[in-house]
Amino acid sequence: MQGIKVCLFDAFGTLFKVKLPVEKLDQLTEGQGERLLAIWRNKQLEYTWLRGLMGDYVSFDQVTEEALTYALREIKVEEPKVYDILMPVYRQPEAFSDVLPGLKALNQTGYQVAILSNGTKAMLEAGVTKTGISQLVSAVLSVEEVRTFKPNPKVYQMSADFFGLDKSAFLFFSSNRWDIAGAATFGFSTAWVNRNQLVPEVLGPTPTYTLSSLHELSSILY
Ligand code: LAC
Repeated sequence: MQGIKVCLFDAFGTLFKVKLPVEKLDQLTEGQGERLLAIWRNKQLEYTWLRGLMGDYVSFDQVTEEALTYALREIKVEEPKVYDILMPVYRQPEAFSDVLPGLKALNQTGYQVAILSNGTKAMLEAGVTKTGISQLVSAVLSVEEVRTFKPNPKVYQMSADFFGLDKSAFLFFSSNRWDIAGAATFGFSTAWVNRNQLVPEVLGPTPTYTLSSLHELSSILY
């Protein structure tokens, strides 16, 4: 990690969970909870990419709700209670169990930690507070400021501008391989947190590091 000063983290899917246990959802969706979660997340990301390309920014909160409306249409369920169960996944996010120890280890080794996310500032602040990582994080950066979405280079540039540092000072962590492609193409070093054991994308530069979780951080901290 030579020359790295800031460890910059994606939020959703990387620090914060994008799923919840499906039992209650299954009851409301005739057993289609797992399918609903998958369609919802994919559609949410697709809408961010499309809105970015169209130059038609709306908040990630709105994108997330619209994607859920689409997902419910696709599984042919009309059940307003699903919004009450699912929207808090993003509005009051929960962290993965490796996050607190991982960020502590980075701080102790002398790295600054920051978050760069499509999420709204409100979502991110709620997650950081709930998770107890606020003392460990020096900046929470939301795309709200540039009114577009990842992987637009303007988003990654925001972090370089905020810290007043060259791109070479950043190591960008994400579980979203497309986000890693965006950050690496921009010029950041990258760490792909392959939480879901996915095969590598054929897109963008190879990640600098690949970890299966933040428990493996010690293998790259030097
Ligand atoms: C984020 C999306 C990519 O947090 O999950 O930016």
